[in-house]
Amino acid sequence: MKDDNFLRANNAQHMWHPMGHPGEAMEHTPTIIETASGSTIKDIDGHETIDAVGGLWCVNLGYSNDVLKDAIAKQLYDLPYYSAFSGTSNPSAIEASYAVREFFAEDGMARVFFTSGGSDSVETCLRLARQYHRIKGEPNRTKFLSLKKGYHGTHFGGASVNGNNRFRINYEPLLPGCFHMPSPYTYRNPFNETDSVVLAQNIAAAMEDEIAFQGAGSIAAFIMEPVQGAGGVIVPNEIFMPLMRDICDRHGILMIADEVITGFGRLGDWSGSRHWGVKPDMMCCAKGITSGYFPVGAALMSDGVAEVFENGGEEAAIFHGYTYSAHPVGAAAVTACLSETLRLDTKTNAAARGTQLFDGCVALMEKYDIVGDVRGGHGLMTGLEIVSDAADKTPMDIAVMKKVHKTIYDAGVMVRLGGNNILMSPPLIITEGEVERVLGALDAGLGSV
Ligand SMILES: Cc1ncc(COP(=O)(O)O)c(C=O)c1O
Repeated sequence: MKDDNFLRANNAQHMWHPMGHPGEAMEHTPTIIETASGSTIKDIDGHETIDAVGGLWCVNLGYSNDVLKDAIAKQLYDLPYYSAFSGTSNPSAIEASYAVREFFAEDGMARVFFTSGGSDSVETCLRLARQYHRIKGEPNRTKFLSLKKGYHGTHFGGASVNGNNRFRINYEPLLPGCFHMPSPYTYRNPFNETDSVVLAQNIAAAMEDEIAFQGAGSIAAFIMEPVQGAGGVIVPNEIFMPLMRDICDRHGILMIADEVITGFGRLGDWSGSRHWGVKPDMMCCAKGITSGYFPVGAALMSDGVAEVFENGGEEAAIFHGYTYSAHPVGAAAVTACLSETLRLDTKTNAAARGTQLFDGCVALMEKYDIVGDVRGGHGLMTGLEIVSDAADKTPMDIAVMKKVHKTIYDAGVMVRLGGNNILMSPPLIITEGEVERVLGALDAGLGSV
């Protein structure tokens, strides 16, 4: 390994970072993380912090799961790669598909299509949703509905259903036929509605209105995150997802649950859909499927969807897939990760520690006027929205947010900034003492402004 000065000097000279300005990265060396253990990461200066981001909402099992590491290493020696395109398969992928299907059987999921990550999983669901309707003799169902503030990755399909302008504007024109409903965001919404039940009903009415306007027979699918993550940890009322499910059912629209963050225990249940008592038609997964140790995603299909494809004619052949779909090493990571996830019952810890983190953040909101809103309370997804003026909810200036971020980091905790939001999604194995330390560092950061 090259020395630290080489790393600092070369970081952005050859590599462009995702979601960053290439010029800025050249001028300001980012934090370079070198090692990690449990829920703790260490940078090249030797500064240790609790990783309240969980890598990027993904390292659910923490950084030291040896079962997972050994499974990956063993598979590398047995079979490092083979294609799963029609005509060949591999034992590791077959075992993983069994494990994933079992894991989500209670959600009504029957089939697994492996991908290389979350964006791939979203793209797969969007494409297969259109194909599903073609097989059923409704080729005009091509449009997609989604929610503002939603994040569905960066492929053209995913960016088209994304509900945040930042991820869209430079890449337009995007896919035609994508329409965005208001987000269940009580702190700011076009109805000025703070009651989450009434807001959910307003959005349902807006969705009905849009469907009537577009024509139900032109809509393929509706996609939503059970809790919006990158948009700022936006937690809907418990009636929201069931309301959306009901609308989809009544209009023959497929419901795609984007569980890339919420799958595998983060909300205190094995899926976000299960948390809200909904069975989607398709699910997009990634991240926690391997705890981030290997890039894998999965698009899951319900019994009903599977039946249409499996009994379909020639048009049901799937001309879609990735070189690394069902990658044997990734698949070994999936099987080991799911077995560890179940053994450690991470959802139970996520629920308990999530409540502790949320309650602590609510106490900080009472202490600091600049905390305009605290969102979470359902497992380990927590967000604080920072404002410069509590009365008119003016978003805090980004320069101030960066200062807060640095103070929190110096106090021993890594958090993520999403505009004027502080976002947290720590490993699901985080301990009570570590959550206390996260709260202490947040206190220091907020107090520094
Ligand atoms: C809800 C959701 N969907 C899709 C994605 C895209 O996943 P990936 O970055 O693995 O492509 C993300 C990533 O954060 C996500 O949060």
